[in-house]
Amino acid sequence: MAVVISSNGNSKAFDAKMTVYVFICVIIAAVGGLIFGYDIGISGGVTAMDDFLKEFFPSVYERKKHAHENNYCKYDNQFLQLFTSSLYLAALVASFFASATCSKLGRRPTMQLASIFFLIGVGLAAGAVNIYMLIIGRILLGFGVGFGNQAVPLFLSEIAPARLRGGLNIVFQLMVTIGILIANIVNYFTSSIHPYGWRIALGGAGIPALILLFGSLLICETPTSLIERNKTKEGKETLKKIRGVEDVDEEYESIVHACDIARQVKDPYTKLMKPASRPPFVIGMLLQFFQQFTGINAIMFYAPVLFQTVGFGNDAALLSAVVTGTINVLSTFVGIFLVDKTGRRFLLLQSSVHMLICQLVIGIILAKDLDVTGTLARPQALVVVIFVCVYVMGFAWSWGPLGWLIPSETFPLETRTEGFALAVSCNMFFTFVIAQAFLSMLCAMKSGIFFFFSGWIVVMGLFALFFVPETKGVSIDDMRDSVWKLHWYWKRFMLEEDEHDVEKRTD
Ligand code: BGC
Repeated sequence: MAVVISSNGNSKAFDAKMTVYVFICVIIAAVGGLIFGYDIGISGGVTAMDDFLKEFFPSVYERKKHAHENNYCKYDNQFLQLFTSSLYLAALVASFFASATCSKLGRRPTMQLASIFFLIGVGLAAGAVNIYMLIIGRILLGFGVGFGNQAVPLFLSEIAPARLRGGLNIVFQLMVTIGILIANIVNYFTSSIHPYGWRIALGGAGIPALILLFGSLLICETPTSLIERNKTKEGKETLKKIRGVEDVDEEYESIVHACDIARQVKDPYTKLMKPASRPPFVIGMLLQFFQQFTGINAIMFYAPVLFQTVGFGNDAALLSAVVTGTINVLSTFVGIFLVDKTGRRFLLLQSSVHMLICQLVIGIILAKDLDVTGTLARPQALVVVIFVCVYVMGFAWSWGPLGWLIPSETFPLETRTEGFALAVSCNMFFTFVIAQAFLSMLCAMKSGIFFFFSGWIVVMGLFALFFVPETKGVSIDDMRDSVWKLHWYWKRFMLEEDEHDVEKRTD
């Protein structure tokens, strides 16, 4: 599959306007990110609602009523965690199918498929009368996320004028954070609607899903996808329409050229296993692992649960989640602003120190002051909330957006979509692991969970320091010569590849 992201800001710029049509396409497609974020944010609030627990998880409800027995364990239930995590497992599987539909059918139909999965999933989950309907609903939502998260970032990259590509990539993450925030607000209001507030909360995802479904009828297919599927005439016409200029020959030729090269690679997955692919492959996959082992989703999924654990009442806990959600959105703008100025490495390193301090402070307060029974005193509980917010800030301008940006800009053209699909599924896998394990880990490790994540933050900081080179301002097709070949560690794989090429030629 070919994705033409051949020129970024500092390489050849084709003649292009930021047309109203492109703007509309970007907004509609980015609604996919909104649904993803909504799903991330909604489950924590719903699993803290008594009406929901009584209906599907009566044993958790009973345990919660006796919360004084054990703060850290009241929500520990494999089925309850499966409610949250099943979505990510389904998304993992779906992203491989989505990679195929993206290349065979196009980006637009893949987004349409995503919205159909979302709609059926929302219907089942919001209308659930038993646990099976609920879980199947979540699985279909997961298919939607898998299809959406594969198609939307590709669509955005291909439709955007080259000079706006970096910023537009982070618009996806921005929409994710807005989705999480909307979910937190919906949770806050629906928690007081008895007995079916949770149905409204889960059903809310239907609105953006409808926008995506009908909106996708208005948007076009990307020129790359059309040309890749030999619809060259239509591809050129679309290119003219989205760029707002008549003369698109140069960009058109570059897409055709990129598609030709990509066609020569018969098996991109085998190519991904070759030494030359090692740096983007290892970095792309490990960034997903590290992004999730910052512990962010322990907070995004379970913030209300976590805040109840430290002693807030139901409402205050949900409200605190709204506050963290707002901080998440606002801090993402800092990322958009800084990423091309200070560079990726600075953000990764700064935030590692920043998040480490926050996790340690939270862990120490909980270890010292939160007994297995009882609650935190108000001042300590407030300090915990403040440090959670500061922690979210650090994540939002670094490991959050960069976890998506770096894999999308470091794979060479011929393995870009496959490399990105692997990164998406890796992300989903580790999101699943955290969603499934966090409440049990909280129960078993108590405040130690924060020291556990702190340990990983040290490891990822060191990894960024030694193994993640700066890619700011480097042309996306020039990574090999300008980045990997000059890096103290990764250069060995490039040399091996060069020697291999020479041997082949002299054979
Ligand atoms: C991550 C999600 C996370 C979100 C928080 C995204 O980049 O992939 O797992 O919940 O950021 O804003």
